[in-house]
Amino acid sequence: MTAVAQADPFVPQIYRVGRVRRELADTTTLELTPLAGPRPAFEPGQFNMLYAFGVGEVAVSVSGATDATSFVHTVRDVGAVSAAIAKLEAGATVGLRGPFGTSWPVKSAEGADVVFVAGGLGLAPLRPAIYQVLANRSRYGRVVILYGSRNPKDLLYRGEMEQWRQRADVNVEVTVDHADADWHGSVGVVPALIRRAVFDRHDSVVLVCGPEVMMRFTANALREVDVAPDRVYLSMERNMKCAIGLCGHCQFGPAFVCKDGPVMRFDKIAEILAVREI
Ligand SMILES: Cc1cc2nc3c(=O)[nH]c(=O)nc-3n(C[C@H](O)[C@H](O)[C@H](O)COP(=O)(O)OP(=O)(O)OC[C@H]3O[C@@H](n4cnc5c(N)ncnc54)[C@H](O)[C@@H]3O)c2cc1C
Ligand code: FES
Repeated sequence: MTAVAQADPFVPQIYRVGRVRRELADTTTLELTPLAGPRPAFEPGQFNMLYAFGVGEVAVSVSGATDATSFVHTVRDVGAVSAAIAKLEAGATVGLRGPFGTSWPVKSAEGADVVFVAGGLGLAPLRPAIYQVLANRSRYGRVVILYGSRNPKDLLYRGEMEQWRQRADVNVEVTVDHADADWHGSVGVVPALIRRAVFDRHDSVVLVCGPEVMMRFTANALREVDVAPDRVYLSMERNMKCAIGLCGHCQFGPAFVCKDGPVMRFDKIAEILAVREI
């Protein structure tokens, strides 16, 4: 499941910021190209440690296609380091080490229906898996994308979501917790979409990413509609330091999110996930 990372995982390589896209008021997508050498391979679901010089280092999932020459990352400004990265302009440099962690089971899902369930920024780590499934569309059964955010103005990648929605071979459902006057779509939380989504409950693989509380409710909703827990994968988040299983900062029960995750199978973490704020 894990792609080859750079030689010394502790040493950040220097990357130049290419195209920058301000997605939302607090969220930016950046293309990062190595100053020297090729971009390392990665698999959908993996993350890099991005280092804003003089500020600090944070974990950020790859949000772009595997076949590009740059890494694409979508960063939300929630604190000092993410703010520094989200404000970068084209031509600036950042440190980057990675990729690290486990990946979405895109290959082993072939033949089954694939359901993506995303909450808010959780669409970013799922996007490379969506690209890969759509690039090999005939190898999968139904493809369903269920996406929710707090407000319409927080919906990520709106243009792309619209393109996916236009396809006859993809079913896209979007919901918001709080509608505004211009919103004519669903209102409610993402897990509620699961009950009415059309997919084979007994032959599907479900990939879930979003705030932990949303993932907990989603996993329970999937269980209620008879999806086996070993067919459900979640991307977990914990504060990272070393990112290679040495420091213990990202401990999640007996596991380390940096090396045993971030993508984890629900049946293996159900007990720990049921305990809030562990
Ligand atoms: C595997 C992984 C993948 C991630 N992918 C992305 C991504 O694609 N895009 C993105 O914007 N962010 C992503 N994050 C979250 C990102 O790493 C944190 O937002 C960042 O570390 C915050 O650091 P800061 O210095 O900006 O803010 P801080 O000052 O450290 O924190 C600001 C606030 O965010 C909270 N916070 C800090 N770290 C986390 C965390 N890991 N999870 C939840 N809350 C946190 C703090 O409790 C505090 O309330 C990912 C995290 C992990 C572990
Ligand atoms: S971040 Fe150090 S063990 Fe995971």
